[in-house]
Amino acid sequence: MNTTTSHKQPLFITLEGSEGVGKTSNMEYIKSMLKESAIDYIETREPGGTPLGEALRAMLLGEDFKGMSDDTELMLMFAARAEHVAQVIRPALSRGQWVLCDRFTDATYAYQGGGRQLDMSRIAGLEQWVLGDLRPDLTLLLDAPIEVGRERAGKRSTPDRFEQERDAFFNRVRQVYLDRANNEPERIKIIDASLDLSQVQQQIKRVMMAYL
Ligand code: TMP
Repeated sequence: MNTTTSHKQPLFITLEGSEGVGKTSNMEYIKSMLKESAIDYIETREPGGTPLGEALRAMLLGEDFKGMSDDTELMLMFAARAEHVAQVIRPALSRGQWVLCDRFTDATYAYQGGGRQLDMSRIAGLEQWVLGDLRPDLTLLLDAPIEVGRERAGKRSTPDRFEQERDAFFNRVRQVYLDRANNEPERIKIIDASLDLSQVQQQIKRVMMAYL
């Protein structure tokens, strides 16, 4: 977090994408742009972002509850989100701080709706219940073919409960993200993450400049 003064209506920005698309390095890049523009912001993530949410994250990603039902997974995602929205996101926006969040509800549509093939209307019902009218102002979707992400993610340590899924799962995840971006082009901006980092950053910069 930094403590500079915000001079704009605070924005809620989320970063999304499948595994291995470069969320971490691009998050750093977005933060550097916010800092350069002297914007007061907080950085957070889902699932997580609060002590309770981080405990739920450990359950959701770890091995201890590997066989949890898909409905349980969905509701734990939203339980973590309810806490996050109440304790962190809404208070920050009310204070005038921008919120930069690594994943949010689009990930639930993509992973639980697409990947797990849960009914989208259930997700929409939970979204309405937990978020009311709160939606991100801008979502950057880092998109790359599954093979590209697999190749990059494969170089990292032990895969978590989601990373262990098969290509068909991730192809559905990717497709839901792309469908959502096509349905909401004003909010969700597709970034071609298959290019090299500097080209990805150029695309992010072009999008962000309209907001800074
Ligand atoms: P990551 O943020 O480190 O990529 O890991 C979080 C994992 O959790 C990732 O595999 C996507 C998954 N996830 C869901 O399945 N549903 C959700 O709603 C969120 C926020 C994340």
